[in-house]
Amino acid sequence: KKRYNIALLPGDGIGPEVISVAKNVLQKAGSLEGLEFDFKEMPVGGAALDLVGVPLPEETFTAAKLSDAILLGAIGGYKWDKNEKHLRPEMALFYLRRDLKVFANLRPATVLPQLVDASTLKKEVAEGVDMMIVRELTGGIYFGEPRGITINENGEEVGVSTEIYAAHEIDRIARVAFETARKRRGKLCSVDKANVLDASILWRKRVTALASEYPDVELSHMYVDNAAMQLIRDPKQFDTIVTNNIFGDILSDEASMITGSIGMLPSASLGESGPGLFEPIHGSAPDIAGQDKANPLATILSAAMLLKYGLGEEKAAKRIEDAVVDALNKGFRTGDIYSPGNKLVGCKEMGEEVLKSVESKVPAT
Ligand code: NAD
Ligand code: IPM
Ligand code: MN
Repeated sequence: KKRYNIALLPGDGIGPEVISVAKNVLQKAGSLEGLEFDFKEMPVGGAALDLVGVPLPEETFTAAKLSDAILLGAIGGYKWDKNEKHLRPEMALFYLRRDLKVFANLRPATVLPQLVDASTLKKEVAEGVDMMIVRELTGGIYFGEPRGITINENGEEVGVSTEIYAAHEIDRIARVAFETARKRRGKLCSVDKANVLDASILWRKRVTALASEYPDVELSHMYVDNAAMQLIRDPKQFDTIVTNNIFGDILSDEASMITGSIGMLPSASLGESGPGLFEPIHGSAPDIAGQDKANPLATILSAAMLLKYGLGEEKAAKRIEDAVVDALNKGFRTGDIYSPGNKLVGCKEMGEEVLKSVESKVPAT
């Protein structure tokens, strides 16, 4: 039997709710493929602040770093919103991403046939959408220096964040994107703001220069404002998108709504070596936390990405993906993806239904 160490970081709000469900699904799908998991659950974000006073305790980082893969719920909440910046829960995410060096964030957005009705877009626009957003995750305006709030020469407060990309940071994320596009439909759209931002001018130059190494991939460029519009006008034009940290954050939330809900979208954050970090793209949803209303499918699908991209266990990953489709085929829906005629369930029940589908070894549909 193969054994893996999995760090579980539930976090805040709906994080613990979706993680407990996803853990069971991961365990079951793995066991059917002869895999065993040693789970190590550690506090992160607001939960860690309450427990030990820092958003990412040393022990949590060490457990994550030494694991084979990390499954994270979500971080943040009203309670800590007024904390000083370095004591905000969200800092844990930045430290994890930076120190694990997981620069490549894969965010697939797929409209499942079962959920076409849940999309806010017209059926003919949403149907068949299948794209992968490759978001740069450890650079750009999230980390650039100088940063902070200072006093300018007029004695006025100024807030500073810096959008900055070094050539090697662009090259490595572009390579991941070209490789990703190559395995998909061979189309890569690089999204930037090269008409205004210097970091984007370099971005476009480097991405363009790499294209000759990937003659089988058709590269195009788009300004981010246009991309935001095109995603709603005709999302099917996109196959693979590569973009910087902040544009990728925003465009992936936008893309999630095409698929029906932000509660559906998983992600994988990968580096050159070491464990990958797997998490839903949504946050801690404090408005529905503790009410058993959260959609756990984004986290369950993140567990599938953990198996596929983190451990190379594609068969176990497929079991989870098939089980999600099966539960949807049976009509189970959480509130965020509900439409009349279906069965409204909570987070736990949705988890149980997916678990049943994993166990019944449903074939792919
Ligand atoms: P959010 O994603 O938490 O919630 C936005 C809206 O989507 C809310 O109405 C919420 O109820 C809904 N939603 C989100 N996930 C859902 C799910 N699984 N099922 C059903 N509905 C869901 O974004 P926000 O409200 O802007 O942020 C809340 C907190 O989460 C903030 O503290 C923010 O910093 C943090 N956050 C964390 C992460 C992360 O941990 N990766 C990501 C985004 C936001
Ligand atoms: C995400 C989140 C984070 C980000 C926040 C909570 C720091 O929105 O994972 O998408 O902006 O990266
Ligand atoms: Mn986000």
